[in-house]
Amino acid sequence: MSETSSLKTIRLGLAGLGTVGSAVARHLRDESRLLAGRSGFRFEIVRIAVRDKARHLAAGVDPALLTTSWRELVETEGIDLVVELMGGEEEARSCLLAALEKGVSVVTANKALLAAHGAELFAAAERTAASIFFEAAVAGGIPVIKAVKESLVGNHISAIHGIINGTGNYILTRMTEAGLGFSEALEEARAKGYAEADPTLDVNGWDAAHKAIILASLAYGYWVAPADLRVEGIDRVARQDIGYAARLGYVIKHVGVIKAGNGGGEVEVRVQPSLLPREHTLASVGGVTNALAIRGDLIGESLFVGPGAGGDATASSVISDIVDAAHSLDKGPRNAGFVPHGLYGRTKPAALTVSEFYLRIPVRDQPGVIARIAGILAAKEIGISATVSLAPSEMPDGKFNEVILMTHEAPLGLMEEAVEEVAREAFVTGPPVLLRVEKP
Ligand code: HSE
Repeated sequence: MSETSSLKTIRLGLAGLGTVGSAVARHLRDESRLLAGRSGFRFEIVRIAVRDKARHLAAGVDPALLTTSWRELVETEGIDLVVELMGGEEEARSCLLAALEKGVSVVTANKALLAAHGAELFAAAERTAASIFFEAAVAGGIPVIKAVKESLVGNHISAIHGIINGTGNYILTRMTEAGLGFSEALEEARAKGYAEADPTLDVNGWDAAHKAIILASLAYGYWVAPADLRVEGIDRVARQDIGYAARLGYVIKHVGVIKAGNGGGEVEVRVQPSLLPREHTLASVGGVTNALAIRGDLIGESLFVGPGAGGDATASSVISDIVDAAHSLDKGPRNAGFVPHGLYGRTKPAALTVSEFYLRIPVRDQPGVIARIAGILAAKEIGISATVSLAPSEMPDGKFNEVILMTHEAPLGLMEEAVEEVAREAFVTGPPVLLRVEKP
């Protein structure tokens, strides 16, 4: 008789056997003694739902475990926990709702699903006293959900600044360090297997936005609505902006920002390419690595850095959730999910959020250009704090063709009005580029 046979067995249904699902199954099998020793449970996968049964049969998966129906998986006799790693929105939502309605707890890595349907899923869980675990939904292997939900529970969180999309960070890093253009860097990310086959959400900022919504909801205790977020992707960053930012002492990173006003006012949530001061740790986080700086009243600033994607790293978070779920099945749930404490409960309109800005305006070289731009900004009481002076050798035919400046703090709405006004001037030759400066 094996030494683990007396332990309680947790029967798992695995929905999805892709990169993360396979890594979870492999580590549960290979590390069963370690996990049993540390957790006091045995874990047994009793059903696996996949799209393409033939492919997994060919790979040697036990045919008795496989089904192509998530419904059949949820209905499996005696199942304790459903682990959803299939991605997508509608099917995953139905699968989790079916499990929760039966009172079966779930583990999910599905950030898009939680960001869009979190309120509905957690309400379903509450009705049947089931739990939802989602460590792998944000920043892959970095244990940041547990940190915000449990380890920092005594803190008022004043700000979270995060680089939370690995593909985007890889692309910006290659543009910064190797001088690649955006398309070249994206192709490289694809070739190395970092970008998804369809990298749309990585590039347009929404993969990071889903994670920011989950973090903001946990930190401030209300479901942040996707429509309230300002989301911009890395596709608006040009190579010359990276160079000009460097001359001004900044690094351009794609940053998720979540912060509350002084004394608990409205919550700012945004995801944008932004200028970070070169000396802040986040500015030096390169490649596919994710990093989060979390500021709380008790702890001050705490940094989390690590792999935000990849099978093994994400499996590390999923397995941690599986063990947590086992304990809560055994002893009863203990804050196993989202608790709507709703202390603040309102997202600040993006137009009212205040920061310093970087502005690049492509122009024709003619008298009065700089005076006119400065005049438009001054009329709205927006002050200029720095400019980039181009040497004649940097200008095409020795004529200056871009105005690059930094502003003092201003509300985004006012800044955007000023930029629209500038863009209507006849000397402007292309769309201006406006980026925020973030100071974690
Ligand atoms: N595509 C994501 C990233 C991985 O690049 O960070 C998981 O969210």
